Amino acid sequence: MADDGGASAEAVTARFAAPIEDALARHLPAPEPERFDLSPKLAEALRYAALGGGKRLRPTIACATCVSLGGQLEAAVDPAAAIEYVHAYSLVHDDLPAMDDDDLRRGRPSCHIAFDEATAVLVGDGLQTLAFEVLADAPGLPEATRLRMVRLLADAAGWRGMVGGQACDMDATGAPPLSLTRLQRMHAAKTGRLFRVAVQFGALSALPDIDDRRFRHLTTFGERLGLAFQIVDDVLDVTQSSDQLGKPAGSDAALGKNTYPALVGLDRARSLAHDTLSEALRILEGLGLRHGPLDALARATVERVR
Ligand code: IPE
Ligand code: IPE
Ligand code: MG
Ligand code: MG
Ligand code: MG
Repeated sequence: MADDGGASAEAVTARFAAPIEDALARHLPAPEPERFDLSPKLAEALRYAALGGGKRLRPTIACATCVSLGGQLEAAVDPAAAIEYVHAYSLVHDDLPAMDDDDLRRGRPSCHIAFDEATAVLVGDGLQTLAFEVLADAPGLPEATRLRMVRLLADAAGWRGMVGGQACDMDATGAPPLSLTRLQRMHAAKTGRLFRVAVQFGALSALPDIDDRRFRHLTTFGERLGLAFQIVDDVLDVTQSSDQLGKPAGSDAALGKNTYPALVGLDRARSLAHDTLSEALRILEGLGLRHGPLDALARATVERVR
């Protein structure tokens, strides 16, 4: 029986928080320096980057998708953690001087400030490879499903996905405005793809043999949600304070980033985020998942203030 009982986004987040944190901590080097004497500094920095706060949206979406489809949470937590490792790595690299050069992340000094640039590069490399190790070993899933997940995450994180989107973002920094179509493509790649794979992993954790049609609709839901999320991220960079965000506000304008508010203005950016959310919610409705945990999370993703 699918678990689609109504719940607030806070309740959904609270329900999955401990299992997600446990999974994230379990695969990292232990806190005692002597347990990883190759580089205690690297061990500390890996934990700093992956365990130091964050909203945990992507793993929460993976877990919520799994239970919404009637799956067991235990099957989803390691795949969910794998996505959060990739996300945490992307943030560490995104903050480097060679990229956005931001010194605040999750309310604390960015990894390269708390440690150093070489360590931050290596933390990103280490978290990325850890993600694939965790997926390969994920308990409770058929081998073919784990292999499919490895393939999906590689595609979502790599040059067709997050890395490609980040490259497009860097190419477009300080450059003339992109067309709206191209900006949307960039956001879908750099951010949307990790949201999409979060929904896909939740679905495959619950239903390894899920039918193609349902999987396709869930995939599109994840895509829409991820795009709405990044439009809101652009808006919050303009409207919120650094204290509120836990990262430097106004960074996009200072760097000359191509963003939704820069291209279409704040009001239109907000309304595009809401239109994109509405599309996502309509897909959920078609899947019989309206008014459940995914619906609550999707709304909160767009209505958030940090
Ligand atoms: C920030 O993502 C990076 C983007 C893709 C915009 P989040 O806002 O989910 O960051 P954390 O994980 O909560 O710190
Ligand atoms: C980054 O987008 C997306 C990633 C893949 C990390 P941003 O550069 O807008 O993310 P923030 O605002 O620094 O979190
Ligand atoms: Mg960036
Ligand atoms: Mg950034
Ligand atoms: Mg941003």
